[in-house]
Amino acid sequence: MERDDALALLRRYVESPSHIIHSLATAAIMKKIAEHLGEDADTWEIIGLLHDIDYDLVRGDMDRHGIEGRCILIESGVREEIADIVMRHNHTLFGDYEQPVEIALQAADSASGLIIACALVKGGAISEVTPRTVRKKFREKSFAAGCERHRIRMIEPLMDLETFFLLAIEGLTGIRDDIGLT
Ligand SMILES: [Fe+2]
Repeated sequence: MERDDALALLRRYVESPSHIIHSLATAAIMKKIAEHLGEDADTWEIIGLLHDIDYDLVRGDMDRHGIEGRCILIESGVREEIADIVMRHNHTLFGDYEQPVEIALQAADSASGLIIACALVKGGAISEVTPRTVRKKFREKSFAAGCERHRIRMIEPLMDLETFFLLAIEGLTGIRDDIGLT
C-alpha cells in the first residue's frame, strides 16, 4: 500500500480534521523513527496513518478501539501484519510491546499531541520548538495533560528521549503545511 492510498482510506473513515492531523503527525514521527533505526520507513509511516482508522466508529469505546480498526483494514485488503499492529496499539487492551514498531507507535501516538501543543504555544511555529522545549513541557504534567508520558517513555530502550524528541520535531517539520503549522 502506498501513502496516498492509506491517506484516502483514512479519509474515508475519519472525518474529524483534528484526528486527520493527529494521524498525519503520528505517521511522520513513525517514519523518522524507522529511518533512524534502519527499519521500513514506508510501512511504519502507513501504520501511523492508519492506527486510529476506527476513531469515528468507536467514539471513544476503548473496548472496541483497535479491534474495529483491524476489521476495517482486513476488509480493505491491508496486510494482516499491519492490521494486527493497529489492533494491538490500544494499550488499554494490550500492552506487552516488544517489537520496535509497536513501541514506536506508542511513543509517536502520544508525542504527536505534545509536540503540536508545544508549537501552538509558540503561535503555531514548529520552527521554534526544540528538544529542550519539549523536554520542559514533558516534565510539566499539567501541560497537554492528556498526553500519556509513560507511553513516550516506552521508546527509551530504543533511543534516549532527546533523540526521540528531535526526530519527532523533524517529522512534524516535514509536514508542517499539512498540519497547519509554520
Ligand atoms: Fe492515535
